[in-house]
Amino acid sequence: MSDEATVERLLAAVTQRRERVNDAINEELPITEPERLYEATRYLLDAGGKRLRPTAALLVGESLADVKPGSADYRAFPTLSDGDVDLLRAAVGLEVIQTFTLIHDDIMDEDELRRGVPAVHRKYDEETAILAGDTLYAKAFEFMTDTGAKPEYGLAATNRLARTCTKICEGQELDVEFENRTEVLPEEYLEMVELKTAVLYGASAAIPATLLGADEETVESLYRYGIDSGRAFQIQDDVLDLTVPSEELGKQRGSDLLGEKETLITLHARQQGVDVDSLVEAETTDELTEQAVAEAVAVLEEAGSIEYARSKAEELTVRSKAHLDVLPENEARQLLADLADYLIARGY
Ligand code: IPE
Ligand code: IPE
Ligand code: MG
Ligand code: MG
Ligand code: MG
Repeated sequence: MSDEATVERLLAAVTQRRERVNDAINEELPITEPERLYEATRYLLDAGGKRLRPTAALLVGESLADVKPGSADYRAFPTLSDGDVDLLRAAVGLEVIQTFTLIHDDIMDEDELRRGVPAVHRKYDEETAILAGDTLYAKAFEFMTDTGAKPEYGLAATNRLARTCTKICEGQELDVEFENRTEVLPEEYLEMVELKTAVLYGASAAIPATLLGADEETVESLYRYGIDSGRAFQIQDDVLDLTVPSEELGKQRGSDLLGEKETLITLHARQQGVDVDSLVEAETTDELTEQAVAEAVAVLEEAGSIEYARSKAEELTVRSKAHLDVLPENEARQLLADLADYLIARGY
C-alpha cells in the first residue's frame, strides 16, 4: 500500500464506520428470549471483527449520495432515488451474514479460536452455534427487506443477498471437497474463493447502489470491484493463516495446513515438487506449534509459493480498482480504492 498517511486515513475511516455499524448492531439485535440463543448470536459480533464489508457498503452509499441534483454526476445517474434509504441497516445485514458464515465455518473447519475468543461452538455447543448462525442468516433478510428503499430496489437487493448466500454454500462445499483432491488448478481455486468469499464483497459493494437505484452498469461494475478485491482478500487470508501468530490473528495459525486446505500457495508448492501433505506432522490443534508452522512456511517461501500468491493478489487488486471508475470522483471512492489495497496489505 502507498504511504503511511494513506493507510492512517483509511484506518480512521474504517474505525468511524465500524463504530456506526456496532451501534446499529446494538439496536437491531437486542438480546431477547430464549436468552442463550440471542446471547450466542451477539457473542461473536461483540468479540470484534474488522467490519470491512459493511464499511465497503457504507462507502459506496456515501460516494453515490454525494451526487447532487443538477450536477454533471447526477445526470450520469438518472435513476438515483432521492428518498431516505437506511443503508446502515443494509450494512448490518451484510455483517450479520459475514458472522453467520464464520460461526458455521468454524464448525466445518474444526477451529476453536475466532476473533480472539473461543469459537461459538466451543463457547456454547454445536447445536447453539448452528442455531445462532441460522438466526443471523434469517435476520439479515429481515434487515434487507426493511431499508425504506423503493420496493423494486429492495426486492433486487434482497434477491442479490439470497443468491450470494447460495453461492457461499457452493464455495464452502468446494473448499471441503478440495481437501480430498491431490490436484487443484489455479482457476478452480479462484472459482472456489469467488464463491465462498468474494461474492459477499461483491454484494457489499453492489447492494447499496441497487438500493439507491443506480443503473445496471454501475451496479455490475461495483460488483466486479467486490469480486476482484474479495478474491485478493481471500488469498491474503491464506497467507496470513501461515505467517501470523494465532494471538495476533485471533484465529488458529496453520489451520489450513492442518485441515489440508488447497490454496494458491499449496498448489504452487506442489508444482514445485514440495510434499505439501507432509509439511506438518501434527494432527490436532493442540499438537500444532508456532515453530512447526514457521518451519513449513520456510519451505513454502523457499519454493516461491507465498510470493506467487502475493503477486496474484496484487494483480486482482489492480483490476478491482479499475471498476471504481463508475463512481463519481470523490473522497469515498478514493477510500474504496485504498480499502482494496488494504485488503492485501493487512496483517490480520
Ligand atoms: C474472515 O473474514 C473470513 C474469510 C472470508 C477469510 P475477516 O478476516 O473479514 O473476518 P472478521 O470479520 O474481521 O472477523
Ligand atoms: C472462510 O474461509 C470463508 C467463509 C467464512 C465463508 P476460511 O475458512 O479460510 O476463513 P477463516 O480463515 O476460517 O476465517
Ligand atoms: Mg475457516
Ligand atoms: Mg473454511
Ligand atoms: Mg482462512
